[in-house]
Amino acid sequence: MPETPLVAAWSAVAPGYLDYWIPRFRPYLDEALEAFDERLRRPGELVVPGCGPGEEVVALARRHPDRRLVALDPSGPMLELLRARLAREGLAERVRVLQSPAEATSAHVQGAAGLFSSFTLQLLDRPIEALADWARTLCPGGVASILFWPRQDPESPWGRLRASIEAEGGAWGVDWEAACRAELARIDMAHTGDAILRHPMRHASAQEAWDRLVDACSLQATARRLGSEAMARCRERWLAGRAEGPLEHHPVARLWSFTR
Ligand SMILES: C[S@@+](CC[C@H](N)C(=O)[O-])C[C@H]1O[C@@H](n2cnc3c(N)ncnc32)[C@H](O)[C@@H]1O
Repeated sequence: MPETPLVAAWSAVAPGYLDYWIPRFRPYLDEALEAFDERLRRPGELVVPGCGPGEEVVALARRHPDRRLVALDPSGPMLELLRARLAREGLAERVRVLQSPAEATSAHVQGAAGLFSSFTLQLLDRPIEALADWARTLCPGGVASILFWPRQDPESPWGRLRASIEAEGGAWGVDWEAACRAELARIDMAHTGDAILRHPMRHASAQEAWDRLVDACSLQATARRLGSEAMARCRERWLAGRAEGPLEHHPVARLWSFTR
C-alpha cells in the first residue's frame, strides 16, 4: 500500500513515538478508557482506528478479556510494533490487526459494540468524514470515544509551536474543530459528551521536548515539508527566552463521546 507523506512521517518515528510519547500520553489514555468502559452496553467487538503502536489496544484487550478487537493503522512499522506487543502479552489471538487508513474503517468492520480512537482525529484531512465512517462500524446502541488534541492556548508551550512554525511555513494545521463540530448533526451517531482532559507532562528540557516532537512525533511531517534549515529556525524561535532545565506543562486533550 503506497504511504501518503503524512503516514510515511508516522512510520519513520514509530519506535521513538512508542518510547518517548506513549508514557507521557498514558494519563490521558487511562482517563478516556475509564469513561469508555462506563458507557459500553452492547456485547461484541471493539474497533480501534489509528491505533499506532497500540497502547490503547493492549489496554482494551486486558480490560475486556471476553471481547475481540480490530486494530487498524496505515503504517506498517506502527503495526509491526503492535503485533510484537500483542504476541508478548499473549493477546494476538483476540486482536485482528489490519493495515488501513482511519477513514476507511467501515470497509473492514461493521456491527461493533464500541470504537475507541486516540490522538488521530486531529491529524486527518477530513475529520468529519472519518467520524461518519466510524459511525458505520457500530451496531445500534454502540458507543464511540474519540480522544484528540485540540488547539492549545497560544501562550502555552504547545500553543507557541504554531507561531514559531508559521513564521517559516505559512499556515500550520487548519482550525478544523469548529467546522467539524458544526457538521456533527449529519453523521449517524449522537454527540453525547465533550470533556476536557488535562495532565502534567514533563521533559528533561525544552530542547528535548522540541527534538522529540520532531524525531518521534507530529513535527516529523512538518520537518519533511520545511527542510532542516527552516526547521532549525523554528526551533530557535520556540526556544527563545525559555529557562534552562526541566519543562513541565499541562497540555489539553478533548474527549468526544457518541452513541449510534
Ligand atoms: C498520533 S498517532 C496515535 C497512535 C495511537 N492511537 C496513540 O494514541 O498513541 C496517529 C496515528 O494515526 C495513524 N493514521 C491513521 N490514519 C491516518 C491517515 N489517514 N493519515 C495519517 N495518519 C493516519 C498514523 O499512522 C499514526 O499511527
